[in-house]
Amino acid sequence: MEAAGFGVVDLGIQNDFARFAAMADTCDAVLISNMDGHAEYYLRDVEALPGGCLWYLGGLPAVAGRTQELLVRGFSRVYGGFVDTDEVVAALGEDLAGRARCTQRLPVLPVPPPRSGRGTDPDLPGRAEVLAQWPTGAGARDIEANSEVLAARPSLALLQGGDAARTLLHPRSGVRGSGDQQQLFADLCSAGAEVLSFQVDSLTRDGRYAEVEQVARDGGALNGFPVVNHGVDTLRRISAACPVPLQTRHSARDPRLLAEVSYAGGVTGFEGGPICYNIPYYAELPLAVSLARWRYVDELTARYAELGVVLDREFFGTLTATLIPPALAICTNILEGLLAVGAGVRSVSLAYAEQGNRAQDVAAVEVMGRLGREYLGRGGQVRVATVFHQFMGAFPADRDAAELLIRESARTAALARADRVVVKTPAEALRIPDVRDNARGLALAAAGLELAAADPGAVDVTEAHRIERTVRHLLEAVLALRPGDVGGCVEEAFASGMLDVPFSPSRFNAGRLLTGRDTSGAVRVIDPGGMPLPEDVLAFETDRMRERLAIAGVPRDEAWRLVARDVLEASHPRAGWPLDGRRTMRAAG
Ligand code: 5AD
Repeated sequence: MEAAGFGVVDLGIQNDFARFAAMADTCDAVLISNMDGHAEYYLRDVEALPGGCLWYLGGLPAVAGRTQELLVRGFSRVYGGFVDTDEVVAALGEDLAGRARCTQRLPVLPVPPPRSGRGTDPDLPGRAEVLAQWPTGAGARDIEANSEVLAARPSLALLQGGDAARTLLHPRSGVRGSGDQQQLFADLCSAGAEVLSFQVDSLTRDGRYAEVEQVARDGGALNGFPVVNHGVDTLRRISAACPVPLQTRHSARDPRLLAEVSYAGGVTGFEGGPICYNIPYYAELPLAVSLARWRYVDELTARYAELGVVLDREFFGTLTATLIPPALAICTNILEGLLAVGAGVRSVSLAYAEQGNRAQDVAAVEVMGRLGREYLGRGGQVRVATVFHQFMGAFPADRDAAELLIRESARTAALARADRVVVKTPAEALRIPDVRDNARGLALAAAGLELAAADPGAVDVTEAHRIERTVRHLLEAVLALRPGDVGGCVEEAFASGMLDVPFSPSRFNAGRLLTGRDTSGAVRVIDPGGMPLPEDVLAFETDRMRERLAIAGVPRDEAWRLVARDVLEASHPRAGWPLDGRRTMRAAG
């Protein structure tokens, strides 16, 4: 937008409507991106859009696709899916033509103070307070009774640790109603799912349980399953009817009650950690707070292990869609694993999000499993599984390209010998998948696994060795920051930029690391910021990127142009998959 001549004030993520409203008289246009389909709920109390400016809404603002109904609120334009920046620029040009320009000066927005320091957070209650966060919490109190329920349910930890040297198929799913969810699980099992999960809605992720209740009363749609509002008895009924292990996937700001209710309801796996469920999602959540909350979850998980029920905790590295160097993803997985295992957790799943270069992705998963077992396995006392996320970035809207991606990505997962693959659907670019989309995704993924079985291939040992040395180098540096205090190391590492996640919205993340794709599509470092890399690895990576920049004709100081293109590379209808199946990245970049 700036390159097109606009002055831009970026409010960052997770704004209340009030923060946008405060800009209304000082801007020519306010552009809101809402990605979770809940715009209608966030705008519930907004009678009219304020100010003399234009209002645009984009992202994926309506779960049920009723995007245009949002226009009645006074938006000049509502985009229901991906829209190219050039198109928005053109629309703004048209809509602003002939309108009087805003003359008021932009207000200086106050920066909110940090919430609290280490260990001093006032909202770190004990169990009674956690269970009192919503009335359904009371139903989760009796851990011994819960453990009996859990013992009778299929166990994610046991299934992953079983003899089947196969990659398990795991789709995502979440709808508002409990009967619908139960039916969805049954249908997905019939379609070949071997692990299932509740994909939790955004309001629950934010602890807005009263609003969930209101939406349910009004019969509105949610973008996932509201685990907490449904409560323990409903979850037990659903988990009793489900023949495969269940997990909860969420990114909740405060995961404690969600974990309590999930476990009590017969869910044997819980995703998330203090890094992966903070740095990619939250702007203002201090690591000290997320570390303390996840310590509670890990200790709760450990309590069940003491009673003989091994529940699985899963992490996924960092942000996943934005060119994450494999060593960084592996390192944060291991750090979260160390925190969990240190609290007494006995089963961890380490997940890696596919980046697109098969040789690099296979090597990364192989290294992650090996180093995971070394750092976390405790001589076999802790189960360590690897999970492969099918590409998490901008997906092709083109059906054939999406199907190719899903099949070939599953093939990569199997070549990497991942214990499980989290499967995408051909509708990824368009909407939250329904059961048919998911069934198609599962069939494509199953076909991909078979392709790998027919031709198992080999790990690129040079790439694996480079990743392994980088992970060890980085981990050693981080763990030396505050010896014996892994949480403290994590905080300091983020504060200094030693751990740095490209495009993180968190203000506790340095944001100096810059990455791109080399000519084979592999993710490489352009500028390491504060991230320590072995010298020869840094030289190798920056050389590869110099080559790419030269071919693309992009000057080094405008490397962001390349990054923007590379982040969107896979969404191109003719991108092909994996990216190293082609000779070079597209000529221009
Ligand atoms: N049901 C199925 N998939 C979902 N996702 C998010 N919410 C749901 C849901 N309710 C998927 C998105 C994306 C990933 C992050 O989760 O489509 O692939």
